[in-house]
Amino acid sequence: MITYNAEKQIFKIDTKNTSYIIGTLRNTLLLNLYYGKKLKDFDYELCDLAALAKSHTSVEAGMEGAGMGEVHSLDFSTFGNADLRLPTLHLKYADGSVISRFRYRSHKIYAGKPKLKGLPATYVENDSEADTLELELFDELSKVSVTLIYTAFNEIDAIARSMRVKNEGENTLEINRIMSATIDMQSAARDFDMLHLDGGWARERFVRRQPIFKGNQEISSARGISSAQHNPFFAMVHKNATELSGEVYGFNLIYSGNFTAGVECDVYDTTRAYIGINPFTFNWKLKSGEEFQSPEAVLVYSDEGISGMSRIYHKLYRTRLCRGKFRDTERYALINNWEGTYFNFTEEKLLDIAKKGAEVGLDLLVLDDGWFGKRNNDKSSLGDWFVNEEKLPNGLDGLADKINALGMKFGLWFEPEMVSPDSDLFRAHPDWAMGVPGRAHSLGRNQLVLDLSREDVCDYIITVLTDILSNANIEYVKWDMNKSFSEFGSFYLDAEHQGELCHRYMLGLYRVMETLVSSFPNILWEGCSGGGGRFDGGILYYMPQIWTSDCSDAGERMLIQYGTSICYPFSSMGSHVSAIPNHQVWRECSMATRGDMAAMGQFGYELDMSKMSDEEIEQAKEQVKFYKKYGEVFHKGDLYRLRSPFEGNEAVLEFISEDENTVILNYANRLATINNAVVVVKLTGLDPDAIYEEVEAHIGHNVFANKIRIGREFSGEFLMNYGLKFTNQRDFQTTIRVFVKK
Ligand code: GLA
Repeated sequence: MITYNAEKQIFKIDTKNTSYIIGTLRNTLLLNLYYGKKLKDFDYELCDLAALAKSHTSVEAGMEGAGMGEVHSLDFSTFGNADLRLPTLHLKYADGSVISRFRYRSHKIYAGKPKLKGLPATYVENDSEADTLELELFDELSKVSVTLIYTAFNEIDAIARSMRVKNEGENTLEINRIMSATIDMQSAARDFDMLHLDGGWARERFVRRQPIFKGNQEISSARGISSAQHNPFFAMVHKNATELSGEVYGFNLIYSGNFTAGVECDVYDTTRAYIGINPFTFNWKLKSGEEFQSPEAVLVYSDEGISGMSRIYHKLYRTRLCRGKFRDTERYALINNWEGTYFNFTEEKLLDIAKKGAEVGLDLLVLDDGWFGKRNNDKSSLGDWFVNEEKLPNGLDGLADKINALGMKFGLWFEPEMVSPDSDLFRAHPDWAMGVPGRAHSLGRNQLVLDLSREDVCDYIITVLTDILSNANIEYVKWDMNKSFSEFGSFYLDAEHQGELCHRYMLGLYRVMETLVSSFPNILWEGCSGGGGRFDGGILYYMPQIWTSDCSDAGERMLIQYGTSICYPFSSMGSHVSAIPNHQVWRECSMATRGDMAAMGQFGYELDMSKMSDEEIEQAKEQVKFYKKYGEVFHKGDLYRLRSPFEGNEAVLEFISEDENTVILNYANRLATINNAVVVVKLTGLDPDAIYEEVEAHIGHNVFANKIRIGREFSGEFLMNYGLKFTNQRDFQTTIRVFVKK
């Protein structure tokens, strides 16, 4: 619900449990008065606004007596005047000046949520699910208007923010910085830590929590993709907050390209949290009459700890960011041939794998890289999307038919945004790759990035994929993207507009994805980028799942999946059982551990199934059965992270099904320790008075193993207070225990 107090000029934006309050001080500065746990009433008079006089700072012209610009908590800011912090919006005008002075002009409040033109965003299915405030500000001198868009979801404690800038003046201007959200909080630097997710290829989204220091702390990507290095997400976590209790503010950008996000802490310990497009690789020319829409930021507040914040993001993204047929249904348990064969496969080999897949109960075979052009290694053919008939003499349709005849569906890998210099496409259109005249290309995995800021390139991708997807029974697509940008330049854009390349690329990519996913609504789409290098809300709007990491080792997945779950639901994580020794870290996790770790996400196998022993095939049958029975609990249930592998030896996750009847505990440990302590795991979120029966368990090598008896009954009170005990598991072992409420 959103209300406006006209007398006091206060907007109160409420979700079920949170309030976000902004005020327009003297019709001028837009103040962030409050964000946090829901307040029933809010009295402006009680705010200590005038007490903010400090020496050696400026008072904004016209704001005399109303406090110094630099110490106000603002919700929108420009640089200069009296505020010298990193601003929300930074414009440069035709005369070279960079000072703006926006004033309140108008506002409207309405039920529902607007679509963002050309950009992915959260949505509502019914206007009663959310309310939106559009707050318009205007700079009289430049004739520029800014519309701040705030949407409050009524039943989910999330607020979506974005901004539109319109040039109502006569001259072209430049946008040099546009944050989707900024929010100032007084004294927050003393009380909060910053938590973010960093990593690299094959070790994506490791959890970092660090104190906020004075100055600017920032995570960002300038790689053209949201990146494995940093995710477009961070949280401000109260120093007293844990996974299960305390105040946490989350900030996430629904965007797959270059972003920046951070916290600037000023001399007064006020923090300005910000998130938006990375200004370092962004310069946008806005002509007279044109509008620019920023991507959307999603803000979440929870006083139920980091897991509490995660549950809100999970629910919102699962139900109101992901779309399409596969949003609510369980998806396909699959076998992907990549780590099984790499480029070296034949039709016969694929059919052998598919046969085993069918035998263990899988739904679909994915043919990964290497099926097109002359692609027998990663040195050629990206862009030449025609089937390699030496490998597949019956074509894709012939192969798909044979796989279908085995009772399996057929899926296919593409890397549409790339081109190999050794390809017919590149020979025909060298200017379709990004690049800079006179400068050699820097290759990555022997390939170049196509310039998706060009309409013709985007149309080509749409045409080629449409053709392939229409001519064979393809029911799943893995959409890969394996190279960061290097020579940032377009042979198509003129000198003036080169600074727009990275964002134009994203708009092009989103158009391509939108066209294809809406033309092929029955295909299940999975995103990928050298593993999880583009794991973000932007992609989830088009593709409900993403390959989480190129590291398929179950031991490393204890870290990677835990970190990913801080913002993204398990339903969005592709996770497969792969061969041992593992191909990335050479670890040999047991089949049980590999199955247990994969079962939490979108499950599959990533090995040559035709080489599995009879015993492994029997284990796989059990794993598929377990997944089909309980996958929904992991995907749609509430997640509580009970122990962090970033702080200790165990990753312990508890899932409670949507109907609250099924509870699954996944206790995973990393290294075995000798003569060690008992680890007590107290469950949470249960009904204390209910009786829970242990109905299934995957028991690792654990001294308590002989105590686990199927059929034993526990009260919720017992499980939450006495808890369950674990000890002495071998290296990288999991124990799964399933309880059902009686
Ligand atoms: C990337 C993906 C892998 C696989 C290969 C194929 O690395 O992340 O899963 O598809 O490309 O070349």
